[in-house]
Amino acid sequence: MERKQFLRSLGAGAAFAIVFPCVHGCSKDGNGDVAPEDMRPIPTGIDFTIDLDAQEGEALQNNGGFILKEFVVVAKNLEGQYVAASQICSHQQTEEVRFISNDGGIYYCSTHGARFDQTGKPLNSITSNPLKIFNTELTGNILRVFE
Ligand code: FES
Repeated sequence: MERKQFLRSLGAGAAFAIVFPCVHGCSKDGNGDVAPEDMRPIPTGIDFTIDLDAQEGEALQNNGGFILKEFVVVAKNLEGQYVAASQICSHQQTEEVRFISNDGGIYYCSTHGARFDQTGKPLNSITSNPLKIFNTELTGNILRVFE
């Protein structure tokens, strides 16, 4: 069946939905713009602690592990240092930023594929906006994350 015939057989509404899936704005998929209601503010005023011996800090015991807290991605990088960045992407402000072990440990947003190094510098052309980075300070088993 030819493409035109296939679309005609679906009817006008279904064919339109297939050909123009993002006409009202895509949300968290593909390369479309994120709907304003799905955008979140970049976190500010961050200053919290994590007890690394508690369940909350369990994922930070291994290099490459991370947790999410107050829209911050707190990670133990591949060298065993604690790093933290905004969970809210600097591209279109979805909350999809995570720490991944690829390329020596980077931040990655699954919405459109933006990648950032551990200083927040963009690593591809998805965005030129740096990812917000937070300070970390370890005292005993208490990790402080702050601006
Ligand atoms: S919102 Fe587009 S890559 Fe993160």
